[in-house]
Amino acid sequence: MSDNRIPLAGVIGSPIAHSKSPQLHGYWLRMLGLRGHYIPMDIAREDLETALRTLPKLGFVGVNVTIPYKERILEIADLITDRATLIGSANTIIFRKDGKIHADNTDGYGFLENLRQQAPHWNPKAGPAVVLGAGGAARAVVATLLDAGVPEVMLTNRTRVRAETLAEDFGKRVRVVEWIQAGNAIEEAKTLVNATSLGMVGKPELRVLLDGLRPDCVVNDLVYAPLQTKLLLTAQAAGCTAVDGLGMLIHQAVPGFERWFGTRPVVDEATRAAILR
Ligand code: ATR
Repeated sequence: MSDNRIPLAGVIGSPIAHSKSPQLHGYWLRMLGLRGHYIPMDIAREDLETALRTLPKLGFVGVNVTIPYKERILEIADLITDRATLIGSANTIIFRKDGKIHADNTDGYGFLENLRQQAPHWNPKAGPAVVLGAGGAARAVVATLLDAGVPEVMLTNRTRVRAETLAEDFGKRVRVVEWIQAGNAIEEAKTLVNATSLGMVGKPELRVLLDGLRPDCVVNDLVYAPLQTKLLLTAQAAGCTAVDGLGMLIHQAVPGFERWFGTRPVVDEATRAAILR
């Protein structure tokens, strides 16, 4: 392959039409004046491995992987980072020059960078965190909060057994709380994260009791459509710092873009505006 090839990247999922990633990477490529293209690819499960082995031969330097392949990719990849193994899924793939497929998970990084940017005073050590949900996103959040030094994570999920499995993987600093008791846990929280899909357009509202929210709690909703969820509006009314989920989507894309296209993009208001358009 000639070294002069235009670098290609993209996102693999099914369906993929809703993905904001092509808009985001396309915006950065244009803003930075870089050569390169980022393409959405709807690929069937049975074709996933063949596609991943073929894409590098076509000039692809890497891809993002999204629903429903974030776990499956770990069975295909040749090299997996520790954090992807811990979280149990990967979203950022690098096709190495030696032909190996390298898989990483940048969701936790995106989550943390977004919190730091939107709530600069946030102190993970200030007290316990409450995490709602126990799916893939919640796993990345719990791993990252523990790593950042949160003393305890109170984890609650509609399906309790899923929360228990997650807690077992992360040790004693994660305590499972009954879904209907979430309101009590929230009274103690210095950080609250909604990692369920509740509150998203087309999904039911999040109905946990929020009366106990304290103003010194930083509240982050991973849902970004709508941008201002009921949870965030309630948090603002209670005097809390409210952090929306759009920034996580943007920040998780930074490490991949930098590896594939060679320049680290900035995340600013213009970037947010570009993907809200
Ligand atoms: P992701 O990878 O984005 O985390 P997921 O694995 O499908 O997606 O997880 C979705 C989360 O939203 C789960 O915590 C799920 O709870 P269950 O484990 O009980 O399914 C939560 N969720 C989705 N719909 C819900 C609902 N109607 N009520 C409560 N929780 C819900």
